[in-house]
Amino acid sequence: MREVPRHLAVIMDGNGRWAARRRRPRVIGHRAGARTVNLCIDFCLERGIEALTLFAFSSENWGRPEDEVGALMRLFLAALDREVGELHRRGVRLRFIGERDRFGENLRQRMTAAEAVTAGNTALTLSVAASYGGRQDIAAATRAVAAEVASGRLRVEDIDETTVGAHMALADLPEPDLFIRTGGDLRISNFLLWQLAYTELWFTDTLWPELGVDELERALRSYASRERRFGLTGAQIAAGDGPLQESIR
Ligand code: IPE
Ligand code: IPE
Ligand code: MG
Repeated sequence: MREVPRHLAVIMDGNGRWAARRRRPRVIGHRAGARTVNLCIDFCLERGIEALTLFAFSSENWGRPEDEVGALMRLFLAALDREVGELHRRGVRLRFIGERDRFGENLRQRMTAAEAVTAGNTALTLSVAASYGGRQDIAAATRAVAAEVASGRLRVEDIDETTVGAHMALADLPEPDLFIRTGGDLRISNFLLWQLAYTELWFTDTLWPELGVDELERALRSYASRERRFGLTGAQIAAGDGPLQESIR
């Protein structure tokens, strides 16, 4: 097995509690969390991780108080204006997954522009999940498959997991090898439901603004020590049952 994950997926959680502990408004926590995003990107670039997917804002997060949602939108906008040049310089390909039409015109334009500028970069693919929900992703893929059937390009009996998977977000990337959630909650919160089918999970109580390189290293060490079996037996994996494993990947 690979020692270092090719694709890391992260739920960046705990900003609000970090601020509350300091008796500060939640938005201060989100601002502090933005710094950890840079640390995490640097870590991936240094360690040769090919893809990083960050959960920044869930479809359900729209239900938060209006002032928090507004503050988050302003933070996104500011972060895009501030960081895209440097990300581009460092060879990062930036992409957004999620229901983009729920954002305002201004933000949508910035997202599209950032994707266009960085499209040719190869050092790291950074996918930011914004207004993203795993169930919404599956529903969108279902609509796309149904449209192919309706147009006569696809037969119902030919639909399998490859057909559906091809329409899901991140279909062009290797599936996430390692998932990290900060903030102490042991749940997926409607993140990449389809894509995480065989991902190794790692949780920490550390709040997102306090996450450091040491802990990322610890997660990677845990990952490297695990045996990924993909439904096979340990003996098959030990025997290097390559073709079967490849077909599952
Ligand atoms: C994660 O931190 C960031 C977003 C969901 C936007 P939270 O805001 O969920 O922080 P907690 O979980 O309340 O501490
Ligand atoms: C998940 O965190 C979403 C993001 C980190 C963007 P939440 O804070 O929204 O998750 P729950 O509500 O605790 O499940
Ligand atoms: Mg939270």
